[in-house]
Amino acid sequence: MKKDILSLLVCPRCQQKLALVGADKLHCNNCGYEASMLNGKPIFTDVPATIQPWEKVERGPDKGTTWRRSNWRFLNDEVKTLAPEALILDVGAGHGDFADIFEEKNYYSLDIVPYAEVDLVCDLGQTIPFKTGTFDAVVLMNVLEHVYENRGLVQNIGKILKPGGKLIITVPFLLKVHQAPFDFSRYTPYYLSQLAQEAGFNVEKLNGYYDTLYLLNESLGNLWLYSIGSRPAVQRFLAKGLVFIIQRLINGLGKLSEKGAIRPVSAEKNPAPVGYLVVLEKKA
Ligand SMILES: C[S@@+](CC[C@H](N)C(=O)[O-])C[C@H]1O[C@@H](n2cnc3c(N)ncnc32)[C@H](O)[C@@H]1O
Ligand SMILES: [Zn+2]
Repeated sequence: MKKDILSLLVCPRCQQKLALVGADKLHCNNCGYEASMLNGKPIFTDVPATIQPWEKVERGPDKGTTWRRSNWRFLNDEVKTLAPEALILDVGAGHGDFADIFEEKNYYSLDIVPYAEVDLVCDLGQTIPFKTGTFDAVVLMNVLEHVYENRGLVQNIGKILKPGGKLIITVPFLLKVHQAPFDFSRYTPYYLSQLAQEAGFNVEKLNGYYDTLYLLNESLGNLWLYSIGSRPAVQRFLAKGLVFIIQRLINGLGKLSEKGAIRPVSAEKNPAPVGYLVVLEKKA
């Protein structure tokens, strides 16, 4: 049976057990540290005043962009390789878009925003409310690009994973700025490899998700926005017709081609994926 999240938590300052005081406080009898509880959720760090919580969007294996669908399939496959009793932490879980994948698993989720779907609120880059070596797997889906101090976060994840534990990551590369202003970076494979090494991980998989049709569609939107929209009326009219034809051709190509390809980025000379699907293994 799934353990209560409170049984996994320790004092971020001294790693001793935390006691629940009443319904709204966690207290460390060893060093006096305190965390609050909000609607039954432990809150370890302040919610940044500037953050903009976003609305839940319906997503799933067959819903959302091709990138999101590839994320779903990838995570689903990776989770199947974990032992049935594996302890799993989803970091930056948001509205829990992938929670269905973890049914019947020892799955816990956290975010810096107190979304109804998460088990606890914490900026894991700052504060670690778990014992060293607690988890068998940590999931980090589309979070790294939103964390300014990404190295601190990955290092702390390294601490709470067991030796041999997995860090399952998806992170975009050719994706437009989103959730502004909390979108800080896009990474090359070299950055990701170094990030992993420095935090004590071996890179097990560093795959790219390649989707040329998706990129063509994005570029077509940009063409209209930046190159055609301000032209004189006649040019705009003619260009609209051509864009319409190109759109049809892209749709036709879509029916003839694979829906995105997954390949090790090392297999490409100049990889240009929509994003990366990564598995890291905590060194023993
Ligand atoms: C783009 S959303 C991804 C949500 C979810 N993982 C998904 O793929 O649907 C990024 C999430 O990371 C959270 N986040 C940002 N910085 C964080 C941090 N330091 N610790 C925990 N969560 C963080 C944000 O609040 C947001 O919910
Ligand atoms: Zn303490």
